Amino acid sequence: MVHMIDPLDFSVEEVGALLDLAGRIEAEPKAYAQACAGKKLATLFYEPSTRTRLSFEAAMLNMGGSILGFSSADSSSASKGESVADTIRVISCYADICAMRHPKEGAPLRAAHYSRIPVINAGDGGHQHPTQTLADLMTIRKRKGTLDGLTIGLCGDLKFGRTVHSLIRALSRYAGIRFVLISPEELKVPEYVLNEAVRPRGIPYEETTSLEEALPRLDILYMTRVQRERFFNEEDYVRLKDSYILTGHKMRLAQPGMAVLHPLPRVNEIALDVDSDPRAAYFEQVQNGVYVRMALILTLLRLAEKGEASHA
Ligand code: CP
Repeated sequence: MVHMIDPLDFSVEEVGALLDLAGRIEAEPKAYAQACAGKKLATLFYEPSTRTRLSFEAAMLNMGGSILGFSSADSSSASKGESVADTIRVISCYADICAMRHPKEGAPLRAAHYSRIPVINAGDGGHQHPTQTLADLMTIRKRKGTLDGLTIGLCGDLKFGRTVHSLIRALSRYAGIRFVLISPEELKVPEYVLNEAVRPRGIPYEETTSLEEALPRLDILYMTRVQRERFFNEEDYVRLKDSYILTGHKMRLAQPGMAVLHPLPRVNEIALDVDSDPRAAYFEQVQNGVYVRMALILTLLRLAEKGEASHA
């Protein structure tokens, strides 16, 4: 049984194939309209979500499949104390594949141990968010034509931002990558992320507190929200929440070909006047999220050929 719990569960070649499939789906969505007919996706969301849950559901519906699930722990038997292990054993009787978001790091991995169906990590605490990474990679590849040789700036809450951790892990496998890590001292990338993904491969990286200083050197700027829900102390959140605000004025420092990404939701970290800048790619990322999740569902259910056959 193949799951997607960590971005590294798929090789670089497999990620490339998945992004290629997502591109074919984007080009000819009707070819995949019945590729999942008769299949069911369960969305098990113990934490709030707009994009991830709804894009998974849209992905399955786009391919003629069905959806079921819950969107909060309160509306499931988790509120009565049911474990993740028992929940996934039950869901394995109802669905063919599931996407799980959970506030506890490692919960989707635990689910995968007990599951009879593919489990997709839709975000676990401040740890990983591999399907957001697929949307990020597709967006970067479309904007820059490659995933190699790029200088990637990641800015904001690099400590709790699971999208940042997964993206660093995934990009660390491409040639000539450089990271510029822009954050307040308190919100730096955790050591384990650097130790597991960046340092062993000798990838150049620098840490800075200045967005303005870094901007002119970047091919990609990945902005992130300060993750209020992961703070123990509201005062710390209030002090740090507006550490970085990208504005149209600051964008004058950036290269003409730079792309601005953000996993969304945004709070205040990208001013509205950036939205009309052609370098703003964050709503493209949302759209790409549907294509990559369609491609991932097809791949995990071993149905990719079905869409390809009707495409031929
Ligand atoms: N990017 C992302 O994970 O958004 P949601 O929290 O709305 O799913």
